[in-house]
Amino acid sequence: MQPIGVFDSGIGGLSVLAALQAQLPHERFVYLADNGHAPYGEKSDVYVLERSLRITEHLIKQHHIKALVVACNTATAAAIHEIRARHPSLPVVGVEPAIKPALALTQTKRIGVMATRGTVESHKFKQLINQHCSQADYVVCACNGLALAIEQSTHPSANAAEVESSIDDLIERYLNEMGEFGNQPGQIDTLVLGCTHYVFVADRLRKRLGLQVSILSTGDAVARQTLRLLQQHHQLQISQAPTPSSNRISLYTTGDLASLRYAAQRWIHVTAASCHKADASVA
Ligand code: DGL
Repeated sequence: MQPIGVFDSGIGGLSVLAALQAQLPHERFVYLADNGHAPYGEKSDVYVLERSLRITEHLIKQHHIKALVVACNTATAAAIHEIRARHPSLPVVGVEPAIKPALALTQTKRIGVMATRGTVESHKFKQLINQHCSQADYVVCACNGLALAIEQSTHPSANAAEVESSIDDLIERYLNEMGEFGNQPGQIDTLVLGCTHYVFVADRLRKRLGLQVSILSTGDAVARQTLRLLQQHHQLQISQAPTPSSNRISLYTTGDLASLRYAAQRWIHVTAASCHKADASVA
Protein backbone atom coordinates (compact mmCIF):
# COMPACT_ATOMS: atom_id res chain seq x y z
CA MET A 1 0.00 0.00 0.00
CA GLN A 2 1.50 3.36 -1.02
CA PRO A 3 1.73 5.89 1.83
CA ILE A 4 0.75 9.55 1.99
CA GLY A 5 3.76 11.81 2.54
CA VAL A 6 3.53 14.58 5.13
CA PHE A 7 6.22 17.10 5.98
CA ASP A 8 6.90 20.11 8.17
CA SER A 9 9.95 22.04 9.34
CA GLY A 10 9.72 19.98 12.51
CA ILE A 11 7.17 18.63 14.92
CA GLY A 12 4.38 21.17 14.17
CA GLY A 13 2.94 19.04 11.38
CA LEU A 14 2.28 16.25 13.88
CA SER A 15 -0.85 18.26 14.73
CA VAL A 16 -1.97 17.80 11.11
CA LEU A 17 -0.90 14.16 11.09
CA ALA A 18 -3.16 13.51 14.09
CA ALA A 19 -6.15 14.83 12.14
CA LEU A 20 -5.16 12.84 9.03
CA GLN A 21 -4.85 9.69 11.10
CA ALA A 22 -8.30 10.20 12.60
CA GLN A 23 -10.05 10.82 9.29
CA LEU A 24 -8.11 8.34 7.16
CA PRO A 25 -7.86 5.29 9.44
CA HIS A 26 -6.83 2.87 6.68
CA GLU A 27 -4.02 4.91 5.13
CA ARG A 28 -0.27 4.63 5.70
CA PHE A 29 1.70 7.82 6.40
CA VAL A 30 5.35 8.76 6.08
CA TYR A 31 6.13 11.96 8.01
CA LEU A 32 9.31 13.92 7.51
CA ALA A 33 10.28 16.42 10.22
CA ASP A 34 12.95 18.75 8.84
CA ASN A 35 14.18 19.63 12.34
CA GLY A 36 17.74 19.84 11.06
CA HIS A 37 16.69 22.95 9.10
CA ALA A 38 14.01 24.47 11.38
CA PRO A 39 12.67 27.04 11.90
CA TYR A 40 11.50 27.76 8.34
CA GLY A 41 9.63 30.88 9.39
CA GLU A 42 12.79 32.87 9.92
CA LYS A 43 14.63 31.64 6.80
CA SER A 44 14.47 33.06 3.27
CA ASP A 45 11.78 31.99 0.79
CA VAL A 46 14.46 30.52 -1.47
CA TYR A 47 15.77 28.36 1.36
CA VAL A 48 12.29 27.07 2.28
CA LEU A 49 11.51 26.43 -1.39
CA GLU A 50 14.73 24.48 -1.87
CA ARG A 51 14.11 22.33 1.24
CA SER A 52 10.48 21.69 0.28
CA LEU A 53 11.41 20.54 -3.23
CA ARG A 54 14.17 18.31 -1.91
CA ILE A 55 11.90 16.68 0.66
CA THR A 56 9.16 16.13 -1.94
CA GLU A 57 11.65 14.42 -4.29
CA HIS A 58 12.88 12.30 -1.41
CA LEU A 59 9.38 11.21 -0.38
CA ILE A 60 8.54 10.30 -3.98
CA LYS A 61 11.77 8.42 -4.70
CA GLN A 62 12.39 6.69 -1.38
CA HIS A 63 8.87 6.18 -0.09
CA HIS A 64 6.78 6.08 -3.30
CA ILE A 65 4.10 8.36 -1.86
CA LYS A 66 0.74 8.57 -3.63
CA ALA A 67 -0.12 12.06 -2.26
CA LEU A 68 1.61 14.84 -0.32
CA VAL A 69 0.42 17.00 2.56
CA VAL A 70 2.55 20.08 3.18
CA ALA A 71 1.79 20.35 6.92
CA CYS A 72 3.47 23.73 7.26
CA ASN A 73 2.00 27.15 6.53
CA THR A 74 5.42 28.64 5.79
CA ALA A 75 6.37 25.93 3.27
CA THR A 76 2.92 26.07 1.67
CA ALA A 77 3.29 29.82 1.12
CA ALA A 78 6.83 29.52 -0.27
CA ALA A 79 6.69 26.30 -2.25
CA ILE A 80 3.32 24.75 -3.03
CA HIS A 81 3.04 26.32 -6.49
CA GLU A 82 6.43 24.98 -7.50
CA ILE A 83 5.79 21.54 -5.98
CA ARG A 84 2.58 21.27 -8.01
CA ALA A 85 4.27 22.55 -11.15
CA ARG A 86 7.06 19.98 -10.89
CA HIS A 87 4.83 17.05 -9.91
CA PRO A 88 1.58 17.57 -11.82
CA SER A 89 0.28 14.04 -11.28
CA LEU A 90 0.84 14.03 -7.49
CA PRO A 91 -2.17 15.11 -5.39
CA VAL A 92 -0.83 17.88 -3.10
CA VAL A 93 -2.62 19.49 -0.14
CA GLY A 94 -1.27 22.57 1.65
CA VAL A 95 -2.07 24.41 4.87
CA GLU A 96 -3.06 28.03 5.14
CA PRO A 97 -4.33 30.13 8.06
CA ALA A 98 -8.08 29.66 8.67
CA ILE A 99 -9.03 33.20 7.64
CA LYS A 100 -12.34 32.27 6.01
CA PRO A 101 -13.62 30.03 8.84
CA ALA A 102 -12.70 32.83 11.25
CA LEU A 103 -15.00 35.20 9.38
CA ALA A 104 -17.89 32.83 9.90
CA LEU A 105 -17.30 32.87 13.67
CA THR A 106 -16.37 36.42 14.60
CA GLN A 107 -19.00 38.69 16.11
CA THR A 108 -16.74 41.65 16.87
CA LYS A 109 -15.29 41.53 13.34
CA ARG A 110 -11.81 41.66 14.78
CA ILE A 111 -9.65 38.61 14.08
CA GLY A 112 -6.17 37.87 15.38
CA VAL A 113 -3.69 35.85 13.31
CA MET A 114 -0.50 34.34 14.75
CA ALA A 115 1.96 32.98 12.18
CA THR A 116 5.64 32.89 11.31
CA ARG A 117 7.35 35.87 9.73
CA GLY A 118 7.76 33.85 6.50
CA THR A 119 4.00 33.26 6.28
CA VAL A 120 3.01 36.80 7.23
CA GLU A 121 5.34 38.36 4.65
CA SER A 122 4.40 35.95 1.85
CA HIS A 123 2.51 37.02 -1.24
CA LYS A 124 0.05 34.14 -0.70
CA PHE A 125 -0.90 35.33 2.79
CA LYS A 126 -1.22 38.98 1.73
CA GLN A 127 -3.53 37.89 -1.08
CA LEU A 128 -5.62 35.85 1.36
CA ILE A 129 -6.02 38.81 3.72
CA ASN A 130 -6.78 41.20 0.83
CA GLN A 131 -9.60 38.93 -0.33
CA HIS A 132 -11.31 39.14 3.05
CA CYS A 133 -10.26 42.47 4.55
CA SER A 134 -13.49 44.27 3.69
CA GLN A 135 -15.39 41.94 6.04
CA ALA A 136 -13.30 42.23 9.23
CA ASP A 137 -10.19 43.77 10.75
CA TYR A 138 -7.19 41.47 10.95
CA VAL A 139 -4.54 41.90 13.61
CA VAL A 140 -1.60 39.94 12.26
CA CYS A 141 1.38 39.01 14.43
CA ALA A 142 4.67 37.50 13.20
CA CYS A 143 5.63 35.40 16.21
CA ASN A 144 9.42 35.16 15.84
CA GLY A 145 10.93 32.52 18.08
CA LEU A 146 7.73 30.76 19.09
CA ALA A 147 7.98 27.76 16.73
CA LEU A 148 11.63 27.36 17.70
CA ALA A 149 10.81 27.42 21.42
CA ILE A 150 8.15 24.74 20.84
CA GLU A 151 10.74 22.66 18.94
CA GLN A 152 13.18 23.12 21.82
CA SER A 153 10.63 21.89 24.33
CA THR A 154 11.11 18.42 22.81
CA HIS A 155 14.91 18.28 23.25
CA PRO A 156 15.69 15.72 25.96
CA SER A 157 18.58 17.87 27.18
CA ALA A 158 16.48 21.04 27.44
CA ASN A 159 15.86 22.59 30.79
CA ALA A 160 12.09 22.02 30.85
CA ALA A 161 11.23 24.84 33.24
CA GLU A 162 13.33 27.33 31.28
CA VAL A 163 11.86 26.37 27.90
CA GLU A 164 8.31 26.37 29.25
CA SER A 165 8.76 29.81 30.73
CA SER A 166 10.25 31.16 27.50
CA ILE A 167 7.17 29.85 25.63
CA ASP A 168 4.92 31.59 28.18
CA ASP A 169 6.88 34.85 27.82
CA LEU A 170 6.62 34.79 24.03
CA ILE A 171 2.89 34.06 24.17
CA GLU A 172 2.35 36.89 26.62
CA ARG A 173 4.38 39.31 24.54
CA TYR A 174 2.62 38.54 21.25
CA LEU A 175 -0.89 38.52 22.71
CA ASN A 176 -0.19 41.88 24.38
CA GLU A 177 1.08 43.27 21.09
CA MET A 178 -2.12 42.18 19.35
CA GLY A 179 -4.36 44.09 21.76
CA GLU A 180 -7.44 43.28 23.76
CA PHE A 181 -9.19 39.93 23.46
CA GLY A 182 -12.81 39.26 24.40
CA ASN A 183 -16.34 39.45 23.02
CA GLN A 184 -16.94 43.18 23.49
CA PRO A 185 -16.96 45.61 20.54
CA GLY A 186 -13.40 46.43 19.47
CA GLN A 187 -11.94 43.30 21.03
CA ILE A 188 -10.45 40.32 19.17
CA ASP A 189 -12.87 37.42 19.60
CA THR A 190 -11.27 34.94 17.15
CA LEU A 191 -7.63 33.85 17.03
CA VAL A 192 -6.25 31.98 14.02
CA LEU A 193 -3.24 29.73 14.61
CA GLY A 194 -1.38 30.21 11.33
CA CYS A 195 1.50 27.89 12.18
CA THR A 196 1.09 24.18 12.79
CA HIS A 197 3.48 24.31 15.76
CA TYR A 198 1.19 26.66 17.70
CA VAL A 199 -1.49 23.98 18.03
CA PHE A 200 0.73 22.43 20.71
CA VAL A 201 0.41 25.55 22.85
CA ALA A 202 -3.33 26.00 22.22
CA ASP A 203 -4.12 25.00 25.82
CA ARG A 204 -1.87 27.78 27.14
CA LEU A 205 -3.47 30.29 24.78
CA ARG A 206 -6.90 29.11 25.92
CA LYS A 207 -5.90 29.54 29.57
CA ARG A 208 -4.72 33.09 28.94
CA LEU A 209 -7.64 34.13 26.68
CA GLY A 210 -10.58 32.38 28.33
CA LEU A 211 -13.56 30.70 26.74
CA GLN A 212 -14.96 33.77 24.99
CA VAL A 213 -12.26 33.71 22.32
CA SER A 214 -12.43 31.13 19.52
CA ILE A 215 -9.08 29.54 18.65
CA LEU A 216 -8.85 28.08 15.16
CA SER A 217 -6.43 25.62 13.62
CA THR A 218 -6.51 23.85 10.26
CA GLY A 219 -5.71 20.16 10.81
CA ASP A 220 -9.29 18.90 10.38
CA ALA A 221 -9.92 20.93 7.25
CA VAL A 222 -6.66 19.68 5.73
CA ALA A 223 -7.61 16.08 6.52
CA ARG A 224 -11.03 16.55 4.90
CA GLN A 225 -9.41 18.04 1.79
CA THR A 226 -6.95 15.13 1.62
CA LEU A 227 -9.84 12.67 1.83
CA ARG A 228 -11.67 14.47 -1.02
CA LEU A 229 -8.57 14.53 -3.20
CA LEU A 230 -7.87 10.83 -2.66
CA GLN A 231 -11.48 10.05 -3.58
CA GLN A 232 -11.19 12.13 -6.76
CA HIS A 233 -8.03 10.26 -7.71
CA HIS A 234 -9.58 6.88 -6.80
CA GLN A 235 -6.75 6.34 -4.32
CA LEU A 236 -8.61 6.17 -1.04
CA GLN A 237 -7.72 3.07 0.95
CA ILE A 238 -10.81 1.22 2.12
CA SER A 239 -10.66 -1.70 4.52
CA GLN A 240 -12.94 -3.37 7.05
CA ALA A 241 -10.98 -2.75 10.25
CA PRO A 242 -8.68 0.19 11.03
CA THR A 243 -5.01 -0.81 11.17
CA PRO A 244 -3.11 -0.03 14.41
CA SER A 245 -1.25 3.27 14.10
CA SER A 246 2.11 1.60 14.79
CA ASN A 247 1.77 -0.24 11.45
CA ARG A 248 0.57 2.81 9.59
CA ILE A 249 2.90 5.60 10.57
CA SER A 250 6.63 6.02 9.98
CA LEU A 251 8.32 9.19 11.13
CA TYR A 252 11.71 10.47 9.97
CA THR A 253 13.80 13.42 11.06
CA THR A 254 16.72 15.33 9.57
CA GLY A 255 17.54 16.47 13.11
CA ASP A 256 17.61 14.92 16.55
CA LEU A 257 15.95 11.49 16.73
CA ALA A 258 15.40 11.55 20.50
CA SER A 259 13.42 14.81 20.17
CA LEU A 260 11.19 13.37 17.46
CA ARG A 261 10.58 10.27 19.57
CA TYR A 262 9.65 12.39 22.55
CA ALA A 263 7.27 14.60 20.54
CA ALA A 264 5.67 11.65 18.73
CA GLN A 265 4.95 9.83 21.98
CA ARG A 266 3.79 12.91 23.84
CA TRP A 267 1.58 14.43 21.16
CA ILE A 268 0.33 11.71 18.85
CA HIS A 269 0.96 8.55 20.90
CA VAL A 270 3.20 6.95 18.29
CA THR A 271 5.93 4.72 19.71
CA ALA A 272 9.67 5.36 19.50
CA ALA A 273 10.07 2.31 17.23
CA SER A 274 8.17 4.14 14.47
CA CYS A 275 10.68 7.05 14.51
CA HIS A 276 13.86 6.99 12.41
CA LYS A 277 16.70 9.16 11.24
CA ALA A 278 16.15 10.32 7.63
CA ASP A 279 18.75 9.15 5.16
CA ALA A 280 21.61 11.33 4.01
CA SER A 281 20.01 12.18 0.64
CA VAL A 282 17.64 14.61 2.40
CA ALA A 283 19.72 15.62 5.42
N1 DGL B 1 5.14 24.73 11.38
C1 DGL B 1 5.46 25.71 10.41
C2 DGL B 1 4.26 26.52 9.95
O1 DGL B 1 3.14 26.01 10.00
C3 DGL B 1 6.71 26.52 10.50
C4 DGL B 1 7.41 26.72 11.79
C5 DGL B 1 8.82 27.17 11.53
O2 DGL B 1 9.62 26.30 11.19
O3 DGL B 1 9.09 28.37 11.59
O4 DGL B 1 4.39 27.63 9.51
